[in-house]
Order: sequence, then C-alpha cells, then structure tokens
Amino acid sequence: MKLTLSRLWRALCLTLTNQPSLTLYFLPLLQRLWPGFLAGLYRARLLSQHWQTPDMLLLSLHVSGRWPGFTPGQHIMLTIKHNGRYLSRPFSICSSLKLWQSQQQIQLCCKINPTGEFTALLAQLPNASMLNISRAEGDFCWQKPALPTVFIAAGSGITPIAAMLLSQRHWLAPATLYYRCRGLENAALLRELNQLAERQPLFQLRLSDSRLEPAAAWQQQLTGEVANQQFYLCGPGAFMQHIRAALLNSGATEGQIQQEQFGLAMPAVTTTTESLALSGHFISAGIRKTVSLNGQQSLLQNAEQQGLSPRFGCRMGVCFQCVCDKVSGQVRDIRNGALSGHGGEQIQLCVSQPVTELVIKL
Ligand code: FES
Repeated sequence: MKLTLSRLWRALCLTLTNQPSLTLYFLPLLQRLWPGFLAGLYRARLLSQHWQTPDMLLLSLHVSGRWPGFTPGQHIMLTIKHNGRYLSRPFSICSSLKLWQSQQQIQLCCKINPTGEFTALLAQLPNASMLNISRAEGDFCWQKPALPTVFIAAGSGITPIAAMLLSQRHWLAPATLYYRCRGLENAALLRELNQLAERQPLFQLRLSDSRLEPAAAWQQQLTGEVANQQFYLCGPGAFMQHIRAALLNSGATEGQIQQEQFGLAMPAVTTTTESLALSGHFISAGIRKTVSLNGQQSLLQNAEQQGLSPRFGCRMGVCFQCVCDKVSGQVRDIRNGALSGHGGEQIQLCVSQPVTELVIKL
C-alpha cells in the first residue's frame, strides 16, 4: 500500500515538474531561503576545529534543532559541498549526549588524510561553514551498562567508544577501556578519558603504546578473563578481526562481542535479474555507448566500470548530484525496492539498479 502511494506520488511529481520529487524541483529556491538546505539532511554549523593528534581533527558542530539526536556509539554521514559537488563520509560522534542536550552541539574526531578527497577538505573549512549531517545510524551502543564491560579501541575506533563512556551517567558495573595507539601523541580524546578515569572509580583507562608493548603481551591482558564480560571493539578491520578471534579462542561467545560496522546499510533486494547481464545504452555528450549492465550494481557503478564519469556526490541518494534522464527501461530503487515506470523520467544513478534494458542520458 505504502509502495503504491509512493509510486503514485512520484508519478504525479514527474508529470507536474519532470522531477521525481517536489523537493528536488524547489531545491534552488529552498537553498536561497535556507543556505545549506538539503532534502533529507540536517544543517550543522562548524564552530571550531582542534587537532587532537597530528592527524586527528576534532570538529565541533552546532546542529539544527530539527536533528532528532543520537544514541552514543552511533555515526552520521557528514556532507560538504566542494566545487558544486556534494561529498559525504560516515563519522562516529565522539562527544557526550549531554553536550547535544544542553548546547545542541556534537563533536566528530576525523582522521585526516592529506591526499584524500574528503578529509583533506575538512581541515581547510573555515569556522561558521554550513555543513549537512544525516540522522544518526548504527546499533553499536552500550546496551547493558549493568554488566562488566571491556572496551577495546585502536586508531579512530576510539570515537564511538568515547561517546559511550563520556555519556554514561549512572555507573552500575566496572568498565575498562584498552586503548592501543602508536605513541601517546597519537591517542585522541585522551584528556576527556583521563578526566573520566579520575572522577569515576568504576572506569579504568589502560593505554598501550604499540611501539613499546608487543601485541602478544597486550592481547593476553584482554583475553585473561572473558567470562561474564561484554566486549566492544572498534578499530581498523584487521585489528578487530584479530582481537575477535583471540577472544573467541579464549572462550568468549559471539554474543559477548559487539563491533562497529561503518556505512549506511542499504537493504539487499531479492531479484530474479540479479545475475542477469542486461544490455544498456549510455548517451554521453551525444555519443551512444552500448554496454552490458550488472543487475546487482547501481547504474553509477555500472557506468564507471564502463569508463564513463557521471557526476556524483554522496553515492547514497541524498545529494541528487547524480540525477540524469532515463529515456526508456525500468530501474529499481536500491533503498526500498520500488520499481520505476518504463518510460522517460529522471533517476538517481547511485541508488538505481537496472531491471530491464535501459537507455540513459548522462
Ligand atoms: S550521488 Fe548523491 S544522490 Fe546520487
């Protein structure tokens, strides 16, 4: 029923405005009225930036009153505009719930890659820049604070764990944070965590410098006593895999271990065309290119694999940078499985998968 109504609404918008939504049609006007407005996202003003470590930058943001808030441990997509394109990346919130509730502020601690497309731009943003954030997502949250808990973090994996610890108001059981870093100068959010350890007797902070303490000796401390503990892991993929395996080998069960997975999940869509190769035609600058399309991938990925360079920003359906004309054929919206019509209309390449033979004007 909901799907039918949304299809009808989309069809009505296309008929009236030649756009799949009214918001998209009125976007230029809305952005004039509210600088930084983006449909489906919330505005956030950059208040300040401070280097936490030589490569970790702490951003303080004042967020829109419409933003619904977060559960400590969750992440948001941060969107910035650069050269007319919207770019988005996920970051965990590292500040306490209290900061948002009392001052409408959140903090993100971002690892800056000077040669990266996104984070290098963050380091150059002037204060008061208007950015966009998504709703908070993710289920990496401290679910049972009444049970003894061991947190294990490395690198920027400290960010969601810091939010959980700094937000905790009623301490009911001991919690220990094992924080592995290459030298104390590379440990972000250390001041806040040290202050917490000083005022909260149930919290212990155990820092480990990977240059001085061998991994095997450090790991032994984590896996010594696993019964009746819950474990929260966050860090580089290989680090988490390694620690997880060590905990399981020491007798911990899968249910005792939680770990962070970044990225906004798009639901998998079951389809009979998933494995079918479909043919498609991309028209770019008047030149028609006939290609084979993979029904399991977005049209943006399909086009890029064919050597084409369509315009894109967020790659997740929020910025509308990848909107282009479908001349004919049917596509599926990856986010909700909705099928388009077979005729001409505008589609978002990043969230559309081919269902039938297609002609797309890039
Ligand atoms: S790239 Fe942002 S909506 Fe497609």
